[in-house]
Amino acid sequence: MKVSQETEKRITEMLSEMTVEEKIGQMQQISYESYRPEVFERFRALGAGSFLHVLGEEADRIREQAKQTRMKIPPIFGIDAIHGHSLCNGAVIFPSQLAVACAWNPTLVEEMGRVAAREVNADGLDWVFSPVLCLGRDTRWGRVDETFGEDPYLAGTLGKAITKGYEEDGLVAACLKHYIGYGEATGGRDSYDTEVSIRKVRETFLPVFRRAVQAGASSVMTAYGSISGVPMTLHKELLRDILKEELGFEGFVVTDWYNIQSLRTNQKAVESFHDGVRLAVEAGNDMSMNTYRFYDSAIQQVKEGKLSMEVVDEAVRRILRVKFSLGLFDPDKKRLSRNVIGSAEHIAVNHKLTRESLVLLENDGILPLKTKPHRIAVIGPNADDIRAQYGDWTFFSHPDAAPEDCKPLSDYYTILRGVKTVFSDSEVVYAKGCHIMDETSDAMLEEAVALAESADIIIAVIGDCLKQNGEGRDRANLELSGRQNELMYLLKKTGKPVITVLVNGKPLCIGEAVKNSNAVIETFNGGDLGGLCAAELIAGNFNPSGKLPISFPRSSAQTPCYYNQYAGWHGGKYMDVEAGNLYDFGYGLSFTSFAYANPVISSDTANAGDVLTVSADVTNTGDTDGYETVQLYYNDRYSSVLTPEKQLCGFSKVWIKAGETVRVEIPLEVNGLALIDAQGKTVLEAGVFDIMIGGNLNSLQSMELTVESTSIL
Ligand code: NOJ
Repeated sequence: MKVSQETEKRITEMLSEMTVEEKIGQMQQISYESYRPEVFERFRALGAGSFLHVLGEEADRIREQAKQTRMKIPPIFGIDAIHGHSLCNGAVIFPSQLAVACAWNPTLVEEMGRVAAREVNADGLDWVFSPVLCLGRDTRWGRVDETFGEDPYLAGTLGKAITKGYEEDGLVAACLKHYIGYGEATGGRDSYDTEVSIRKVRETFLPVFRRAVQAGASSVMTAYGSISGVPMTLHKELLRDILKEELGFEGFVVTDWYNIQSLRTNQKAVESFHDGVRLAVEAGNDMSMNTYRFYDSAIQQVKEGKLSMEVVDEAVRRILRVKFSLGLFDPDKKRLSRNVIGSAEHIAVNHKLTRESLVLLENDGILPLKTKPHRIAVIGPNADDIRAQYGDWTFFSHPDAAPEDCKPLSDYYTILRGVKTVFSDSEVVYAKGCHIMDETSDAMLEEAVALAESADIIIAVIGDCLKQNGEGRDRANLELSGRQNELMYLLKKTGKPVITVLVNGKPLCIGEAVKNSNAVIETFNGGDLGGLCAAELIAGNFNPSGKLPISFPRSSAQTPCYYNQYAGWHGGKYMDVEAGNLYDFGYGLSFTSFAYANPVISSDTANAGDVLTVSADVTNTGDTDGYETVQLYYNDRYSSVLTPEKQLCGFSKVWIKAGETVRVEIPLEVNGLALIDAQGKTVLEAGVFDIMIGGNLNSLQSMELTVESTSIL
């Protein structure tokens, strides 16, 4: 987001003309579905600054009405376009953020942002509440599916890419959320307190936001929760001092849903509603989502001299800046035609990204299938369930759940349809086998097993369902629910090969299911084309390349199990669970194999500000062309505060033909090796660092780098 000096001058003039009511009106956002019609009407007539969850023609009507107000300030329409313009039936539904993170492909993720921006713009809207920059480190949390996984470097890289995709063409504004530490609430429970220090925020969570702010994000959303007991909505240090001053963020901050009202009703941090309103604005929130009493209270407090006009002016300036940068004041502003929604060009981007989002977790050699099977049994609760496959944040779940018989208007593929399409010469039979949440009868299991026995191969599709993911749907138990493990055991007992396809929001404890499978493919929530791409992978139409952006625990209580924890000295394992994760961050198989040789770092000494190059020869040692994601990690051997033994600091995804060797080079910014010291300063400490390169965490080749002098950055 960028505006000229001239625009800033114009905003100053506007501020001098606006009444208190008009200014506070700009700071009010109203949701379409949650109010009585008369409340909605009131704000529509007075020209509220923003509306959310309004689609298509309703947005046009509100926009026209704003033209009748004295200042004629256009509203900005926000929408939860979380994986594509996903609340709009007919738009391209991409895989979830967690799924696309498996592609480790910033270029394609940027494209995904661009596609969503085009579809949202064509639908008459201006602002996407995306990306989610929370880290998915506690997998009990219900919103892990919305994250780019557990690692700050990977999430920062993809967050920056998608923000660029949203913003670059000036079609929509992005919204970085949820600021900050929201995913880390105690016990993995949504909206609870996050017990971390500001030092920890700076070390782990802030870098992700910093990179997306630098990519030009127009807005940031305040998290529901609190940081060490201070509600985020009132966190002046994090909102004003760090986000706006230190990071130089020039856009505006919007609260999350009812945050201001919750200060009194849920968090009990203020005794009176008015105090909540005033303190939230003073802390740095520029727009109030919902909490519609904000409007009257803020006006009253400005008039009584309790809420300073200067603070209000600054908030309104930030909002107007974004409106100008989007060209909303331009009377000739053209939107893209609605024909771009669901266009072939957009579907092609989705197809590419979905293919790269799949992770092959296990393969005993069965994949790719060598011969076309005569009869395929597709069995499992998620084989033909597009709701489970889409995951959260589509028209099936928001703003109101769509009716049972609602069908997507896009050309969507469940796994069953994907298999039928790709294996059009085979006979494909299907049984659900069991339910995920409801009771399953013996007869249901028996019917599926009988069908499986009649086939040459079994494709088992298991995982979780919509009700097990999302806000307020945290899980204490990450095991496969219902009788899914039993189903897998019975399928294996048939003696037929079992290819398991996982359709799930987040890592589950799938150890038992893995034992009963010849191959396992993780799709997470694969969107419109998840089913097609899974079947294409099974047929060998492409070589899988996805790598996990998140670790898989063996047992529920092992979570959090993210890879970059600090070392302890009692082994870090539980006495009653096998040591280590089931799958580590960065893991994923291919139909080929890669070998690494001759790792070199461009200098073995460095200082602050240097950018080095780390390189290695990577050979495709198999007979299939494929992508390899080369990963770069570092370890600060001795540091004044604890640091992880391995921390990702770079990666490069390269296409390597069978039998060929490619010299892969990855830049290493030495400032990226800095830590946050006990005083909260960013310091690059002198000493030896291990720089490690390889295809996954457990097979890295290491080099030494000496940082010669300590620098405060
Ligand atoms: C609540 C969610 O936390 C946030 O992610 C979303 O954008 C807003 N509501 C608006 O729906």
